[in-house]
Amino acid sequence: MTRFSIAVIAGDGVGPEVIAAGKRVLERVAERFDFELAFEEFPWGSEYYFRHGRMMPPGALELLQAHDAIYLGAVGHPDIPDHVTLNGLLLPIRRGFDLYVNLRPAVLYEGVSSPLAGRQAGEIDLAIVRENTEGEYAPIGGFLYHQQPEEVAVQTAVFTRRGVERVVRFAFELALKRRRRLASITKSNAQAYGMVLWDRVFQAVARDYPQVETESLLVDAAAMNFVRRPESFDVVVASNLFGDILSDLSAILTGSIGLAPSANLDPTRRFPSMFEPVHGSAPDIAGRGIANPIGAILSAAMMLEHLGRAEAARAVEGAVRKVLAEGRLRTADLGGSASTTEMTQAVLARLED
Ligand code: NAD
Ligand code: IPM
Ligand code: MN
Repeated sequence: MTRFSIAVIAGDGVGPEVIAAGKRVLERVAERFDFELAFEEFPWGSEYYFRHGRMMPPGALELLQAHDAIYLGAVGHPDIPDHVTLNGLLLPIRRGFDLYVNLRPAVLYEGVSSPLAGRQAGEIDLAIVRENTEGEYAPIGGFLYHQQPEEVAVQTAVFTRRGVERVVRFAFELALKRRRRLASITKSNAQAYGMVLWDRVFQAVARDYPQVETESLLVDAAAMNFVRRPESFDVVVASNLFGDILSDLSAILTGSIGLAPSANLDPTRRFPSMFEPVHGSAPDIAGRGIANPIGAILSAAMMLEHLGRAEAARAVEGAVRKVLAEGRLRTADLGGSASTTEMTQAVLARLED
């Protein structure tokens, strides 16, 4: 029987709550579709930081590399600056494993209401392809006159032809499998180097995909158009920062950030890809058992798809669709009072159908 080994970093806040839910679903679906999943838990994150002064041990990436995929909850603690937690765990994994695609689908499911008036289920169905290793997130910069009154901070965005081209190509390939529309998002009117390079590379790659209808939008207009005409978007490719911001927007347009999944992919498969809900550690609701587990569960489905278990992935997504469509159970973020466990049990029950 095929056996996949999964590294689990549940992390902080609601991370462990939603990852426990996702693991239950994964275990059930593996049984049903005849494969094995071996989970190895890595207790890294903010508690680890309080004890060891770092978010994960030296050699962490070597430990993760032995696995077929990584399943991550969230990272972030109110008592530790966010740049310490995130630059100590999440971002080094994305970069270290060259997970250059961050794929973030957003679907308005039946039974879920959008904050946009009059939107019907299925009308919003887009996929953000976020560049995930460079751009505005490149760890290039520093402080001069650190902590002095005349302090200067330099933060440099890095755009490489290789980096832009590979993520843009991935987006075109994805568009071919979907509705053949691709929007590229930049701010090249103001960011006249990196984003001009992006636009040029986008236009050059577009010539290889005449079947795909393209548009280039400035990020401010894109934000407006996500709200004004979300149905017009199919695949959206954007830089690291713009993809981050637009994916919170697409998440809320489709009901809640608690529903939104993501996949950090190495399409070359040299390294394990990493699957995580889009949301963070949500300290405001952590420990109360009320976090929406669907984002984590759908991220698990994306992991199954990546591992070549498309049928199992579809079963998980189908179960989620049914639970949402029934509309009987809703977590607080969707306006209800169901617990994480109740929601998870409902998905498990639908998996049996
Ligand atoms: P957040 O996503 O944690 O929370 C934003 C809002 O959404 C909060 O009101 C929260 O209660 C709600 N929410 C989030 N997930 C939910 C869920 N599953 N069910 C129901 N409601 C949910 O974003 P934030 O408040 O900006 O950040 C909190 C911490 O998480 C910070 O430390 C931040 O740096 C970190 N963060 C980490 C990741 C990650 O690990 N991938 C992503 C985003 C933010
Ligand atoms: C996300 C998060 C991270 C990001 C933060 C926590 C560094 O917001 O995964 O969307 O910006 O990539
Ligand atoms: Mn984000």
